[in-house]
Amino acid sequence: MLVIGHRGASGYCAENTLSSIRHALALGADGVEFDVRALGRHLIVLHDDTLDRTTDGTGRYDDHDWATLREFKTAAGEPIPLLEEALLAALPAGIINVELKDPSAADRLIDYLSAECEHGRIEAERLLLSSFDTSATATLAARRGDMRLGILYDDGDFDAALERARAQDAWSLHLPLAALESSIIARAHADGLRVLVYTVNTHADLARCHDLGVDGVFSDYPDRAVALNSRTAKEI
Ligand code: G3P
Ligand code: MG
Repeated sequence: MLVIGHRGASGYCAENTLSSIRHALALGADGVEFDVRALGRHLIVLHDDTLDRTTDGTGRYDDHDWATLREFKTAAGEPIPLLEEALLAALPAGIINVELKDPSAADRLIDYLSAECEHGRIEAERLLLSSFDTSATATLAARRGDMRLGILYDDGDFDAALERARAQDAWSLHLPLAALESSIIARAHADGLRVLVYTVNTHADLARCHDLGVDGVFSDYPDRAVALNSRTAKEI
């Protein structure tokens, strides 16, 4: 299974920080996932639309300008990163999954990443773009060039998610652990989609994903998935 560090290695580090991203890769993850939002002309790495859970700030993140926001600290004592800083930290990763939380920033994200690819700073094929928002994935799909697209499914109409993945020529379907069933995996595989599951942290859930033929996992503890991979490879 592909091992993707969820918000870096957020079981060990403050989520979505540069040290979390670097730690995931040091633990042997194949890739990293982090969450992106827009603030003015900046693209920043932050999961929630409020600051309270992950920083020493309070309230909505976009009630502040960038200079103020940058002063708030995560539990690691680090600031909220800019997308360009996160990309730099993630450069050694085979897969860099940018999850767009802010649909209004889809075009800006594509503009920025396309320019990075054109300047040779990153290979488009290593970028995997995803969003829960259907209008955002439509924009990403239309403008992604050689970047890969992941369709994030939460709950609700699975047929519609599969249809969207097909229509938008997605690389992968990202499923929550709660939705995991062999029939769903089979349907995604029949459409040529890789199945990546979030967020898989326990040894039992990792083993279940492996046994069901899942292609990759997002984990807060990427070392656990790396260890499972090496155990199962030895058994083979
Ligand atoms: O992209 C997979 C996963 O990160 C989606 O959920 O809430 O952790 O961003 P969330
Ligand atoms: Mg995410």
